[in-house]
Order: sequence, then C-alpha cells, then structure tokens
Amino acid sequence: MLILGIESSCDETAAAVVEDGKRLYSNVVNSQIDIHSQYGGVIPEVAARSHLEVINPVIHKALADANVTWDDIDAIAVTYAPGLSGSLLIGTIAAKTLAYLKNKPLYPIHHVEAHVYANFITEKVEILGQGSTEHLQPEPQGAARSRSRATLNQNVMSLQLPQSQPTFPMLALIVSGGHSQLVLFRDHGDYTLLGQTQDDAVGEAFDKVAKMLGLPYPGGPSISKAAESGDPFAYGFPKAKLAGAYDFSFSGLKTAVLRRIQREVGVDFTFPSHELPARVNEQMRYDFAASFQRIAIETLVDKAKRAFYEYQPASVVIAGGVAANQELRRQLSDALPLSVEYAPIQLCTDNAAMIATLGYYESQRVEPTSPFALEIKPSLSMIKEVNVA
Ligand code: KG4
Ligand code: ZN
Repeated sequence: MLILGIESSCDETAAAVVEDGKRLYSNVVNSQIDIHSQYGGVIPEVAARSHLEVINPVIHKALADANVTWDDIDAIAVTYAPGLSGSLLIGTIAAKTLAYLKNKPLYPIHHVEAHVYANFITEKVEILGQGSTEHLQPEPQGAARSRSRATLNQNVMSLQLPQSQPTFPMLALIVSGGHSQLVLFRDHGDYTLLGQTQDDAVGEAFDKVAKMLGLPYPGGPSISKAAESGDPFAYGFPKAKLAGAYDFSFSGLKTAVLRRIQREVGVDFTFPSHELPARVNEQMRYDFAASFQRIAIETLVDKAKRAFYEYQPASVVIAGGVAANQELRRQLSDALPLSVEYAPIQLCTDNAAMIATLGYYESQRVEPTSPFALEIKPSLSMIKEVNVA
C-alpha cells in the first residue's frame, strides 16, 4: 500500500511517499529555517505564507522523486494536530482537496505520534535521478511573495536506516521543540503516557539557552556543535525533582543557566538576557553549551532508564527533533542493556515520511476520514487524549 504523507504543522513543508509503513520512496522537506532564523524563531504568519507557496511543488516533487503517479497512490495521510493553525490549515486543505479530487482515502495524523513512526522506516527504494537539490519554484501568491526555497530535497539512498522495525511493547522517548514525553506502546494505536514535561519542552530549552549564548536558531544543532569544543563539567546545574517519576521539567534548568551566565559575566538577575551574548566569551559559550547539554540529556536518559527497568519493553526508540542529538544517542546506548537503533537525523526532525508511515498503520486499524469532516486541532498537545491512561 503506497501512501502520500503531507506535513505542514510548523516551519517545514514536507511530502513523502512510503510503502507498507516501512519502505521509503521519496522524502521532500522544504525548510523555512533560513527565513525564521532572521527573527530568532518561527513567525506563524510568515510560516503559513511560505507553506502556501510551496505546498503544491513539494507534493509534486514527492511524487516525481518516487517515480509514481496518482494512480499508484492508495491513500493520503496528513498532519491535523498539533501545530500552528495557519500552517496546519495549508497542509490539510491540500490533502482534503487532493483526497476528494483523486478519490483517495484520507487519514488524519497526530504529529507527535508520527515522530515515533520514523523508527519504523527500515527500507528504501532507489529511484534514478531523485533527490535533486534544485530549488523548488514557489507558486506566486500575488505581490507578497516571500523568499521560501527548498533547502533539503533528500536523496533517500543516502539515509542510514535501522536494520529492523521496533517490536512491542516499545518504550518511546519523544523529545521535540514542543514535547518531552515517555510513552509505552503496547501495539499500534495502543499506548500509555508515562510522563511528560510540566513546563518547557527539552527542544525549547535548547532553543532558549542558545539565544542566551548568542548561538543561531534552531538552538539544538548549534548547542550540540558548540558543546563539542566545551567542557561538560565546567558548570553544574540542578536536576528537577518532580512528583511524577516520569515527568520532566526544563524551565528550572533554563533559569539556572541564565542565572549562572549572569553571574559569570558579572551582572545581576535583572540584566536582560538578550544583551548577554555580547558579554559571553568564546570558551564560556562552548562550556555553557556543553554543561547545559550534559544535564538536559542526563535528565532524559535517567527517566528513560528507570522506565525501561520498570516496564521491561522489547524495544526502545527516541523520536522528535532532539532525537537528532548525538550526546543523547551515546548516553542512551550506554545506559540500556539492549541495543537501540536510531533513525537517521533527517527523519528525526519534521518530515512527511513519518506521517505516511503512521498513515499505513492507521489504515490497517481505522476507517478513513471524509475530506469534508477533517478539521485541524492546533492545541491537541498530547498524543490522542482517548488513549492516555
Ligand atoms: O521535531 P522537531 O523538528 O519539531 C517539533 O515538532 O518541535 O523538533 C525541533 C526541535 C528544536 O527545538 C530543535 O532545537 C531541536 O528539535 N533539535 C535538537 C537537535 N536538532 C534539532 N536538539 C538537540 N540536538 C540536536 N542535534
Ligand atoms: Zn515535530
């Protein structure tokens, strides 16, 4: 079964073709990072406009890269929650229109749940000429055309995929810009939330600490790059103690880093954080990045390890943008007695291959949704509420 996945919940416009929830044909991601980095974060209106400009060319390219036509596509899967409303609307309207016009079954997909399914992609199909890096031509939208462009059209063959799919019960550590959760999956669509962040998501903490240090957006990759040149033990930070054994809190860590930077540069707590980067020297920047990263990652790994011993899962996966972090991969592999396979970084950050993959498992479990009934749910923050124990 060949599924076209469409993703537009935040600042990536993506489309991909995946077969039977495991075989990757194409994976097109149009990143808006170059646009949003000018502002140090995502501007929702700018994101929506950029999605609108490239959604059709992105979908077209996903089909072309996969060397398939609409006749080959069996179903469409699209992110309907959670995310920015304007952004979600563009992807869902495209998907609903195409499902109606091409007469294809339509599956609404939860973005956070889909991140976990990046780990189920274990095969790739070589198609000659795919993954070319030419820039997509955004469709003109009147006078107000922005500078959106394709920065990442992936050649599927270059991806290092896991050898085998995870088995159930599966413990998933979901760590992104909006989520930090430990979830136990008993089967497809059957899972329990063990714990989650009580305040900031871990990716959000990476992004905010990066800003304090004057490191570029997005903060995750730039913190981990800076950390390579720093001493992870230069500064000590406390780990949050919480009532829930599997809950997280990253807001306290972020504030502890802020106070320590202020102290190190000789200003008090009233000093504005946006003026700190000018006072932080190169080595201090590296050391803060490394010390913050060590504690943030240790916090995640401590809880994952504890959940592993309590629930004895058959497999452990990590998912979401922060799953791209090499320090997390290293620490987790060291902490667990089973071997953990990791999805390639390109499938950890936002993409549509994970949407198409989960779309397949949904198609095996539930009826498709009518294009007239599908609605976005921007603030459905947790994995489908009905399944939360
Ligand atoms: O999953 P994702 O692409 O978007 C959301 O659904 O949120 O995750 C984005 C988050 C950002 O906070 C980014 O800073 C973080 O993932 N991130 C990383 C790394 N790469 C991306 N965090 C730590 N280390 C990385 N290498
Ligand atoms: Zn995401």
